[in-house]
Amino acid sequence: MGAQIHKFEAIVVGGGGAGLYAALALSKEKVQTAVLSKLYPTRSHTGAAQGGIGAALANVEPDNPEWHMYDTVKGSDYLADQDAVEIMCNEAVTTVYELEHLGLPFNRTPEGKIDQRKFGGHTRDHGKAPVQRSCFSADRTGHMILQTLYQQCIKNEVKFFDEYHVMDLILESGICRGVVAYQISNGEVHVFHAKTVLFATGGSGRMFKITSNAHALTGDGMAVALRRKIPLEDMEFFQIHPTGIYKMGILLSEACRGEGGILRNGKGERFMERYAPTIKDLAPRDIVSRCIYFEVRDGNGVNGKDYVHLDLTHLGAEVIEKKLPDIADFVRTYMGLNPVTDLIPIQPTAHYAMGGIPSNFNSEVLGDEKGTIVKGFYAAGECACVSVHGANRLGTNSLVDILVFGRRAGLSMAKYCRANDFAPLPKDPENEVLAQIEWLRSNAGGEKTAVVREALQCTMMDNCGVFRTSETLQKAQGDIAELKKRFLKIQVSDKSQVFNTDMLEAMELNNLLDLAQVTVDAAFARTESRGAHYREDFPKRDDAQWMKHSFATLSAGKTDLKYKPVVITRFQPQERKY
Ligand code: FUM
Repeated sequence: MGAQIHKFEAIVVGGGGAGLYAALALSKEKVQTAVLSKLYPTRSHTGAAQGGIGAALANVEPDNPEWHMYDTVKGSDYLADQDAVEIMCNEAVTTVYELEHLGLPFNRTPEGKIDQRKFGGHTRDHGKAPVQRSCFSADRTGHMILQTLYQQCIKNEVKFFDEYHVMDLILESGICRGVVAYQISNGEVHVFHAKTVLFATGGSGRMFKITSNAHALTGDGMAVALRRKIPLEDMEFFQIHPTGIYKMGILLSEACRGEGGILRNGKGERFMERYAPTIKDLAPRDIVSRCIYFEVRDGNGVNGKDYVHLDLTHLGAEVIEKKLPDIADFVRTYMGLNPVTDLIPIQPTAHYAMGGIPSNFNSEVLGDEKGTIVKGFYAAGECACVSVHGANRLGTNSLVDILVFGRRAGLSMAKYCRANDFAPLPKDPENEVLAQIEWLRSNAGGEKTAVVREALQCTMMDNCGVFRTSETLQKAQGDIAELKKRFLKIQVSDKSQVFNTDMLEAMELNNLLDLAQVTVDAAFARTESRGAHYREDFPKRDDAQWMKHSFATLSAGKTDLKYKPVVITRFQPQERKY
């Protein structure tokens, strides 16, 4: 069995917000563009970004992009590159207006302007008080972004290949020439020859047991890049969102607290008052998640268990039903509770990879810590690391990131396409993928994907989650090494071609294992605490040693770590108080 060959000037891998905005920009520049998406595009995980997109429109109260920049840098625990953050916060404003003009149905103020709500870590005048900066469409903002951009892409004749799983990047002599993908519906392999490729493949939250991430979030783009010797930046920083539904991890948006919701411990206390006296429940996510666990450890969990309550009861039925309708639905459907009258059990849930494929302002991929550009290869969205989130992302900034840098990717790819011819394909670029598929289909070691994956998710949650120590990280390192050996004995039961999810899940597990390895190894090496990376054995931030980004590569199965300094322009690192 060979492969079908396709030829497009630009291939976008991923049908979420970053991919769709890039594809739209490319198609408007008259570049022949195709989007490959593992899911039907409007089911992409951008749809799970519920609470809004941050932009200093100042529609409800005074605000400006410089305050947004300050909050983002402080929220990142000073690890974000400030030149990139400045671009993002400035362009957030024009991006939101462009979305409005494309037809996105934002909530409105009584005067008809785009409405804005509070969100964690977003403040007025450099930390004085929470500010209303998040532009929203009830609690379906990401979903509305997908619908708006998808219909615009269709209008602009972007070609879609739905349910295609990327398996390889065709890269030779430092020039990207396309991708190899697996068609989920029939098991066929396709080669996409291209002048430029964008990876906008999303995150990898499925490496954790309790996660807000959909099943598809297995870090495919990051893992493919890693195997092609592209480093991954800042992988040790993985955000745990404070409010997932207890035991399920399903996200209950920070918008709940933005609208006035309160976290209460088992004694009914509003405990965040003690930890972040100025902005309380609207402190950044790394801090709130840790505080929830501090309460649980102090015996203040509800009924002595490992959860606390989200209290929306004082908001009233009208606010809940109108501004948080999906949240209300989730609470009713999954918990059998009424958010208007009942307290909601929540626990922190793995949510977002701050790290990823290193890229610059134009979303060009960097092949090393020195900044060497990989020609024709771009990355944007959660799979990329620009770096605008540093050690901890603020809520709403993922949507800003995917749109600002997705659009920038499209524009710079268009420029590249105009200036360059197709680089020739190497001979039989599909061969490695075909061999991998054949190996998976015929391997007979008796190990089951679901069992190995669950063991991975448990060790990541327990040993590389909100709290980390040398001991827990070494335990995770040992477990991952063992699980990688077990993967060599993986056996799929379904040998068929049609919608073979058994096979797909095995491929995804392989990706998660590699990403978990570099995550844990980078976390073990970083002997300080910063943002989402909290080392109980090194509880202080150490700017003298660690004001730098990690770059991890895999070589003969071993992680190699290099480092690159953080870009500091306007805001000198300070102690982070809220
Ligand atoms: O809480 C939320 O609505 C999630 C948003 C985000 O991750 O930015």
